[in-house]
Amino acid sequence: MPSAIIVGGFWGDEGKGKIVAYIANTDKPKIIARGGVGPNAGHTVEISGQKFGLRMIPSGFVYKDARLLIGAGVLVNPEVFLREVELLKVADRARVDYRCAIIEPRHCEMDRTQDHLKKIGTTGTGCGPANVDRVCRIAKQAKDIPELKDFLTDVPLEINEALDKGNFVLIEGSQGFGLSLYYGTYPYVTSKDTTASAIASDVGIGPTRVDDVIVVFKCFPTRVGAGPFPTEMPAEEAERLGIVEYGTVTGRRRRVGYWDGKLAKYSAMVNGATQIAITGIDKLDRDCYGVKEWEKLTPKAKKFIEDIEAEIKVPVTLISTGPDMDQIIDLRKEKL
Ligand code: GTP
Ligand code: IMP
Ligand code: MG
Repeated sequence: MPSAIIVGGFWGDEGKGKIVAYIANTDKPKIIARGGVGPNAGHTVEISGQKFGLRMIPSGFVYKDARLLIGAGVLVNPEVFLREVELLKVADRARVDYRCAIIEPRHCEMDRTQDHLKKIGTTGTGCGPANVDRVCRIAKQAKDIPELKDFLTDVPLEINEALDKGNFVLIEGSQGFGLSLYYGTYPYVTSKDTTASAIASDVGIGPTRVDDVIVVFKCFPTRVGAGPFPTEMPAEEAERLGIVEYGTVTGRRRRVGYWDGKLAKYSAMVNGATQIAITGIDKLDRDCYGVKEWEKLTPKAKKFIEDIEAEIKVPVTLISTGPDMDQIIDLRKEKL
């Protein structure tokens, strides 16, 4: 698969970070590029017990030979970017498109204090207000920030040239379908479209160059912040099921719900899914924890997956059985 886009199918936090890290480590892409809104995202990557919470650098950083690019569509907070570059020691390969719009402290301040944004329950990371300035054409760009000088590149040029040479490029989205400005639960959404087409545009590849779209769903969808959640369960029920999660960026407790087949099908359609990844199957059935072979899944888990395939008519190729990068069943060879 020369190019693959990974996106979230529900309300974000589906485990895209983990899926991206696994694919990067296994398929060794030349480039891992990040689309999506900006540092409102929090991707978690766990490798052998070590946990990383990433907001700007692509989750595929674990594969050490890949360029790590941030597409022009993404908002950059220079402080967050530079901190992660330092922490992960990726200064030699992390780059931002020179046209990325910049989040300034005043954007964060507005995001935290404006009444209507507080009602929506935004992450307070300045993304919405920075996108407003971008649309008003008064935002700064990465090329205007001296501290980013050594990190600038032309992301579409790098990606399209890599694709021309037949290299594999992995493209990582953020947030999820239900948070899309266009298709989500407006006004309780983020400040951009979050579907695969938008992610392609964020990094500067045309629709004709996208080979695979992998939509990630979690067995029990979650949502942080306000807004409709048709399959939401009471907090006590989530506790009883042992599903208590907190946001990577905000630390807020995530609302938890049951599988939403209707939303999953619609989301796969709008994203043009060619593959589905399911995370958290260990939360459906504890006996699936850490399993790496389909045969070893419980009948309950197998039926859950088979029902999804029958309903959505897209193959489930990756099944995550725990937070660690290696806790996964990879069926891509058999199913594609
Ligand atoms: P956004 O870009 O913010 O939408 O985040 P994301 O999709 O990368 O997901 P995030 O890392 O915020 O949340 C997923 C959480 O589930 C993390 O804590 C992961 O470590 C964890 N996780 C991922 N896959 C599995 C899994 O199969 N089982 C369990 N138990 N946890 C998982
Ligand atoms: P904003 O993107 O910070 O403006 O927040 C708008 C809505 O999207 C809020 O409900 C946030 O909780 C949600 N949101 C934004 N980014 C993420 C994410 O990465 N994971 C989960 N929810 C998110
Ligand atoms: Mg997250």
